[in-house]
Amino acid sequence: MSRKNTAILALLAFSSLGPLWIAAQQKPASAEPQTKQSAPQAGPLEYRETDVAARNWPKEAVRAPEAMIVSDNALADKAGLEILKKGGNAVDAAAAVAFALAVVEPRAGNIGGGGFMLLRLASGKTVFVDYREEAPGSATRELYKKADGTYDTEGSRLGYRASGVPGTVAGMALAVKTYGRLKLADVMAPAIRLAQGFTISDKLATSLKDSAKRLQQFDRSNQIFLNGGKLYQTGDSLKQPALAETLKRIAQNGPAEFYQGKTAQDLTADMAQNGGLLTMADLAAYKAKIRTPLHASYDANGSKWDVYTSPPPSSGGIAMIEALNILSPEQLKGWNDATSVHWVAEAMRLVFADRATFLGDSDFVHVPLAGLTDPRYAAERRATIDPAHASSSQSVGAGDPTPFDKPKAAAGAASLVTHPDAFSREQAVALSLYEAQREGHTTHFSVVDADGNAVSNTYTINDSYGSGVTAPGGFLLNDEMDDFTAQPGQPNMFGLMQSEGNTIAPGKRPLSSMMPTIVLRDGKLSFVTGSPGGPQIISATMLTVINWMRFGPLDARGAMAAINAPRFHHQWMPDSLIVEQDFPAATAAQLTAMGYNVVKRTWIGEVNAIGIDPKSGERLGAPDPRRQGAALGN
Ligand code: DON
Repeated sequence: MSRKNTAILALLAFSSLGPLWIAAQQKPASAEPQTKQSAPQAGPLEYRETDVAARNWPKEAVRAPEAMIVSDNALADKAGLEILKKGGNAVDAAAAVAFALAVVEPRAGNIGGGGFMLLRLASGKTVFVDYREEAPGSATRELYKKADGTYDTEGSRLGYRASGVPGTVAGMALAVKTYGRLKLADVMAPAIRLAQGFTISDKLATSLKDSAKRLQQFDRSNQIFLNGGKLYQTGDSLKQPALAETLKRIAQNGPAEFYQGKTAQDLTADMAQNGGLLTMADLAAYKAKIRTPLHASYDANGSKWDVYTSPPPSSGGIAMIEALNILSPEQLKGWNDATSVHWVAEAMRLVFADRATFLGDSDFVHVPLAGLTDPRYAAERRATIDPAHASSSQSVGAGDPTPFDKPKAAAGAASLVTHPDAFSREQAVALSLYEAQREGHTTHFSVVDADGNAVSNTYTINDSYGSGVTAPGGFLLNDEMDDFTAQPGQPNMFGLMQSEGNTIAPGKRPLSSMMPTIVLRDGKLSFVTGSPGGPQIISATMLTVINWMRFGPLDARGAMAAINAPRFHHQWMPDSLIVEQDFPAATAAQLTAMGYNVVKRTWIGEVNAIGIDPKSGERLGAPDPRRQGAALGN
């Protein structure tokens, strides 16, 4: 079989989609987790029993000789593959996947939100595209304060006032223009077709039904996504003519259509009518930013590993590098070894305390990223860990990275806020507790092409179906304003103050946990990963990196094992070690005996990763079976 003529090798998905497509996954009984809203501390944050024994997760990744696309949705994978076959590279295919997900996975895929794209080009160049939403020009620190002095707690999460300026169209256009081979119109073609109608899967029908309460409050959303209140059934066709027209105009006129053209005019007119924040000036001012990725190197398993990950306004990259630095000298054996889990959990506890204390948009606040990611700082943090016992989050706080940090000017920050005095422990605790009870959805996908270009992309509208508002252009809008500290100087729902560094300011980007990541082994592309999950993004992504880099094996089994392995999460506050439902019971008991408050959760994250087999060069597609990811190779 010639490499040029290779057909689709395999698809890992949940339904029968034709003879070439291998049905390999059983739908998890609890694809949609439930979340308890009120209790911030001990007790299940989210839990539903699943028959673990009945699960039929694949043991091997999907293999392909040239290219691989792994996303939440088989239709989006197909869109990406179509673009590769038209001569596009991984960047073109990634943009095609992103636009397709905006149509077929409306709870998270979007053009009304934002995200991060990390690229590793075959040339050896590694770049980061920041297309995170930003606060509109009229936004103020106390945007959600009402006349009576209390805060509108719903305002940043639901409805017209919850949206930041969307970045996805600018981000995709910039990536394709700078690093792609095709035109924006080419990569948008599959999404335009899908918007004219596609078959609703069981997963989508269930998700729409579950979000009916949110969506039915807004006429356009009710009409498009709830079938005018009648709801959709599996197998129905979802036709989105308004979205199709919007995508066509963007394809024709470029990103200016979204930021200055009819799409912008219709959106801002609707905003003005409904008390929303976004204006024509806000949209016209939006720019996706190219940033330098964070980078750290490790020796493990006889190889040198280079980890490239996300800089601010992501918090995830800094947190992962600090944790990997802390863990670097430790002999980790696996997740049925309580001591190994203990070391990782304590590292998570420490980095989450730092995260809640120091991080924000580095274009606005000084983030001590050089200090936090310095191995000497990690050594200081590591020395505080008791090798045999869990510590208590009450007695652990942020460290002091200042001695290892660069001066503010050198770090490139326009310093509106200095550290560490602006971020009190009390504020950090509040932020961490607040995040612990967040729900919602985000989506990560990975692409590798035949030349070895790789894209790792995570994007979001924050909550599932974002703010619930659909713009006249047929796309859902984000509620990313809620990722800011929306109630500064006021006690939040737990009676505590929140972080000052992440308060709202015009043009500022809210702190994110999203952290697309790419790992090289001995200088060669090895692993592409990332996840949704709010703060659990950090744990889920980091665990897959550790699984691949330190446990292997670096083949199809190892790639899938890196994704299937049970996950756990500690975020300092609340002081709970959250473990997935099938985390080894004996290990959990040992961890309890070591002093952990072990809490069960259905799933942590949803990682769609690609490994590269170092011997054969094969692309190993490893979609997360937790929520029915799909891999498509060529
Ligand atoms: O940027 C962030 O960190 C959040 N807006 C992500 C939200 C999320 O992942 C929700 N859930 N899965």
